[in-house]
Amino acid sequence: MKIIEQEEVRKLLQPKDCIQLMAEALKGLESGEYAQPARLITVMPNTAKFGFMPAYVGDYFGAKVISAFAPNMGTKYPSHIGYVMLFESAHSTVAGMIEAGSITEIRTGAVSAAATDLLARKDSHKLALIGAGAQARSHLAAIREIRDITSVTVYDLFPQAAERFAKDMQEKYKIPVVVCSTVKEAVKDADIICTVTPSKEPLLTKEMVKPGTHINAVGTFTPTTREVSSDLVAAARLYSDQTEAAKRESGEYLIPLKEGLIKEDHIVGSIGEVLLGKAPGRTADDEITIFDALGLAIEDVASAKYVYERAAL
Ligand SMILES: NC(=O)c1ccc[n+]([C@@H]2O[C@H](COP(=O)([O-])OP(=O)(O)OC[C@H]3O[C@@H](n4cnc5c(N)ncnc54)[C@H](O)[C@@H]3O)[C@@H](O)[C@H]2O)c1
Repeated sequence: MKIIEQEEVRKLLQPKDCIQLMAEALKGLESGEYAQPARLITVMPNTAKFGFMPAYVGDYFGAKVISAFAPNMGTKYPSHIGYVMLFESAHSTVAGMIEAGSITEIRTGAVSAAATDLLARKDSHKLALIGAGAQARSHLAAIREIRDITSVTVYDLFPQAAERFAKDMQEKYKIPVVVCSTVKEAVKDADIICTVTPSKEPLLTKEMVKPGTHINAVGTFTPTTREVSSDLVAAARLYSDQTEAAKRESGEYLIPLKEGLIKEDHIVGSIGEVLLGKAPGRTADDEITIFDALGLAIEDVASAKYVYERAAL
């Protein structure tokens, strides 16, 4: 049994390769080749969102066990802590334990990049990030692999976090990163917007977003929390990572549905369905598209398998 810690995960799972890996995993889920039972996310008395996320990817299966602990944000402790426990399918023995904070970080940006590649206009160059934490970093790393990003704007509740992000990313990628003092200012010219915060209330509304924008709504994943307002969801073409899960768990979908602003069929399709040609993507340059990312176990277990197999080479 191999234990693979985050330093090795980061070496072996590069954003560019992970985008392709995630596209294959999402297709495998939609085609029935892979399986994913419903996950369990409970809130512990210490406020940790504690998740058990099982999936089957053919020659391996396993589960991510992870705690998302918001009070760690801005401290020396990571906000996502856990491991993917990977079993091989032939004899059901444990193959490895792979650090899950790094997998979560890298695969989430890669899934959004796969969605952005399908849904954003080809001439999208300006990226806005709402939230300047680990996901902002992984989203910039992945999205610049699929579009020529020439400028970035960033807003964070804590300006120091946005300043730190801007400094690091300018040094790393040699592109301008402008810190904004409001969400509205950050998104006003954006072609692609990623909301990557633990906000419980919507922070992005329809009047802030220009026609033709693509949005990755990533930060929230429970029925009662969301980052995008109901009027924006109603005005947009909405895509899921898995529609069954979105109808069960996504505040971005369930809240406007409850308010009567959208109908049950508002989700156009999942990213896997678009990749398989079973659902349409963007149909006009002035449409607003939203990818609502809940995060799927299949993404974690497929990433863990990839890392495990490469670590063995
Ligand atoms: N959908 C998925 O698959 C998925 C995967 C991983 C993480 N997440 C979620 O994404 C969010 C971000 O994760 P992370 O790892 O980057 O966390 P992080 O702690 O590294 O960064 C979060 C950042 O958001 C900022 N922030 C908090 N509230 C804000 C608000 N209202 N407006 C603007 N900025 C705000 C914080 O100051 C912090 O800089 C979390 O809620 C996390 O649970 C979702």
